[in-house]
Amino acid sequence: MTTVNRMHHKILAFTDIHIKSEGEKIVGYDPLERFETGLKHALKHHPDADHLILMGDLTHNGRPDQFERLKPLLKNLPLPVTLMPGNHDRRDTMLEAFPDLETTDSGHVMQVIDLDGQAPFGPKDRLICLDTLDGPPWRDYHHAGALCEARLNWLKTQLETAGDRRISIFMHHPPLHTGFNGMDAIRMMDHEAFYTLIKQYPNVTHIFAGHIHRTISGTANGIGFTIFKSPTHQMPMMLGTDGYAHSVPEPGAYGIILLSDEGVIVHSEDFDEATRHAVQGYDD
Ligand SMILES: [Fe+2]
Repeated sequence: MTTVNRMHHKILAFTDIHIKSEGEKIVGYDPLERFETGLKHALKHHPDADHLILMGDLTHNGRPDQFERLKPLLKNLPLPVTLMPGNHDRRDTMLEAFPDLETTDSGHVMQVIDLDGQAPFGPKDRLICLDTLDGPPWRDYHHAGALCEARLNWLKTQLETAGDRRISIFMHHPPLHTGFNGMDAIRMMDHEAFYTLIKQYPNVTHIFAGHIHRTISGTANGIGFTIFKSPTHQMPMMLGTDGYAHSVPEPGAYGIILLSDEGVIVHSEDFDEATRHAVQGYDD
């Protein structure tokens, strides 16, 4: 639990990092270098952030050496970090590399983060980070997400015990259609059970996801959602297209979430393009 004396909590979110083995690239980039650049940018400009969440697809193939490449970047961070698995990860190799990760009784990598403002001011938030990785058993080219009964039961408990906290849910796979047919076919497939459950808890305010590699936001089933880009490779704007392996080197990004006393405010920062000197003399 983190206690802060402010009118908002600030969360930094990276998704779809896709670290490959030494020497391997995606769209011409080493994904590890892309994440390192984005993380340095985020830490420099947001030293007041309360928490860092890596929202799955930490690696491209779930290999032990790929998780090992991530480890040095997460050492001595000035803020707590939460790791979530995605469809490109493997839970067993992830836990071998990071044995201190919290797991549930069912062995899933899921965690609750409670953030308290100081009474009588400041919001009280609960962040629920889910593991939507479908497996084991591992099936080749199976990238869809799942929430089995054990995970849904765990989620129910976290919703029930949240009290008056506002709830944000983090999950790698979106539980909704985005209009990219190929990606929609590999969304979180237990979406009906998921929405039936969370709709019983009016404190659930927002869902954060990755997986698509594009900035997308809106509402689904009456609940707001935001999907963040990757730091490395993005989905081209080819709505309606089949397949899920389209990648373009559009600017990478990370998310900045302000959980304020007013609401949930979501920013996406294209860290390569970002500048902090406004154009002067703009007068008409
Ligand atoms: Fe991904």
